[in-house]
Amino acid sequence: MALRRAFCYAERVTGLNPQAKQMADESMVRNLAAQAEAIWPQEVDLIRRYPLPVDARILDAGCGTGEGASRLAELFPRARVLGVDVLDKSLEIARSRYASLGRRLSFEHQSIYELEAADGTFDLTVCRHVLHSIPHPDRVVAELARITRAGGYLHLIPEDYGMLHFQGGALDPSNFWHVVPATFGAATDTDLFIGRDIFGILSALNLERITMDYIIVDTIRVPRETFATILEAWRDGYVESIGELTPVSREQATAYFNQMIANIRNPTGYAVWMVPVASARVGARSKKRAN
Ligand SMILES: C[S@@+](CC[C@H](N)C(=O)[O-])C[C@H]1O[C@@H](n2cnc3c(N)ncnc32)[C@H](O)[C@@H]1O
Repeated sequence: MALRRAFCYAERVTGLNPQAKQMADESMVRNLAAQAEAIWPQEVDLIRRYPLPVDARILDAGCGTGEGASRLAELFPRARVLGVDVLDKSLEIARSRYASLGRRLSFEHQSIYELEAADGTFDLTVCRHVLHSIPHPDRVVAELARITRAGGYLHLIPEDYGMLHFQGGALDPSNFWHVVPATFGAATDTDLFIGRDIFGILSALNLERITMDYIIVDTIRVPRETFATILEAWRDGYVESIGELTPVSREQATAYFNQMIANIRNPTGYAVWMVPVASARVGARSKKRAN
């Protein structure tokens, strides 16, 4: 039964973007905005670590609505930033929102499995909130290494759905996070725990100076409303497919999300999402391997 449901679901989505429906939903636009608002203030110091030329070439792979690409272009005023995605609707939003950044920031329809850039084109290659949502993330990371120059850096946010913690109430949210990501990932051929698996992928590519850091999105560091907006957007975008693909029904998923949102909004409540950030330097040896 679960297999048949997964097959029906797979028929409706693009093979290499199984969350295409959710990514194109209005809830994702507000989700990406809230995620950037929550994460960027801590992420920016991690990005400043990379020794980049002033006129750096930067790629944002799977750029969505341009939240990351636009911040990178603002952070590095002489850099040229390219954002690529396969969702034209998101690319249109990005182009219209950030036209003021002119020719330094552009957006193109390209698949991150097969980028158009020549080997070694970019000084910094960024891929935020994408690798958990696609099959064969190792192939994509190899492609990102291919288009990054020797001495350049990869900066990745590989989400991990075992790294969210909420307080118990009428429901125990631990049960939700224990069951849903594993079954949803199996049904969509994606790794929703890639935050802990990315180190092995980077190591297998012989990348250098691999680091793992964590951005802490919690009810102390991030405004409660911003954090709550992320959970509301997940609820609005995902309960239907959770009901189809996992043992948790749409109604149960809604109840879990509503309780977690109330936990975040409760002025004395505490909740935390630990967001992994992986980075690595592309060396001459890893270049040979990626080619
Ligand atoms: C959760 S969004 C993240 C957007 C953006 N990186 C950010 O941080 O706001 C994931 C994005 O990956 C894109 N994506 C999925 N598969 C892709 C592929 N094969 N090539 C390019 N983009 C892809 C989706 O269309 C979506 O816009």
